Amino acid sequence: MKRVAVLTSGGDAPGMNAAIRGVVRTGLDKGWEIFGVRNGYAGLLEPAIESLGPRDVGGILQRGGTFLGSGRVPEFRNEEVRAKGLRNLQERGIDGLVVIGGNGSQAGALALSRMGLAVVGVASTIDNDLAGSEVTIGVDTALNIALEAIDRLRVTASSHKRAFLVEVMGRNCGYLALMAGIAGGAEAVVLPEAEIDPDVLAAQLHAAYARGKAHALVVVAEGARYNAQRLAKHFEAHRERLGFDLRMTTLGHTQRGGTPSAFDRLLATRLAASATDHLARGEHGRLVGLIKGEIRSSPLDEVVGLPKVLDLRLLELQRILAK
Ligand code: F6P
Repeated sequence: MKRVAVLTSGGDAPGMNAAIRGVVRTGLDKGWEIFGVRNGYAGLLEPAIESLGPRDVGGILQRGGTFLGSGRVPEFRNEEVRAKGLRNLQERGIDGLVVIGGNGSQAGALALSRMGLAVVGVASTIDNDLAGSEVTIGVDTALNIALEAIDRLRVTASSHKRAFLVEVMGRNCGYLALMAGIAGGAEAVVLPEAEIDPDVLAAQLHAAYARGKAHALVVVAEGARYNAQRLAKHFEAHRERLGFDLRMTTLGHTQRGGTPSAFDRLLATRLAASATDHLARGEHGRLVGLIKGEIRSSPLDEVVGLPKVLDLRLLELQRILAK
């Protein structure tokens, strides 16, 4: 019988609970003992590792966040610190680990796997910046939350003939901003992958005003050099250049705390099931993700730290649609 632990790490993402439940119940079905690690890698160090039965993951499928807790543990980059975490698992006879998280979390998974532990990663981050999965757990829910806000902001923007800067999450990646911009009918998007000169943006907004638009929405990724705050500051002295009066809304962590969508629950469940299947087959050191619509895995060392390329042809489409 195997003894396998599961943890959630990094920024929480809607659907993480569904993934934990998937690991616990498919693992138990294989006759294994499953353990939950509290607060990401911090729980490996404390240690805070507890046995999980099927009832422990009852009623969590539909809840956002992660009932195990999550965290960012920079000291886990240190090999001696990781060795302590590994010892805590070994002392409990735990010989497998599922790491549910994004880029930083999977870097920890890769490091543990290089130290000899059987580790499988499950791709989860609202930023969608993890290579090895076209879409990661949490993205769909975060996008829908952003869209709901954008739809509302358009209503009030139209009533007052205003332009709005709406900042969405995405530290290094403009995926959420680009997709929310297209699906929300934004007049412009600002991404880290395609920086824009604020004066060019001002001209775009003015052109929209001149075309008779009652509002203009700009979706800005938080990781862009000109984030919403910097853009607002830049425009402060030159309001007349925009035509519109300007307001700014930062959505921030509201995008992280939502109820997971059907898509995220299903993706999380399928990835979790595949993670335990991988461990059962002795295939580890891998990240499971969604590739060309199928659940597949890639070696962790081929995906961790790799930049995920955003399809910038969609930016051109967004511009055309903003006419
Ligand atoms: O998890 C990704 C993310 O939500 C980024 O979009 C954002 O920059 C960051 O986490 C915020 O981190 P924290 O919750 O630690 O403030």
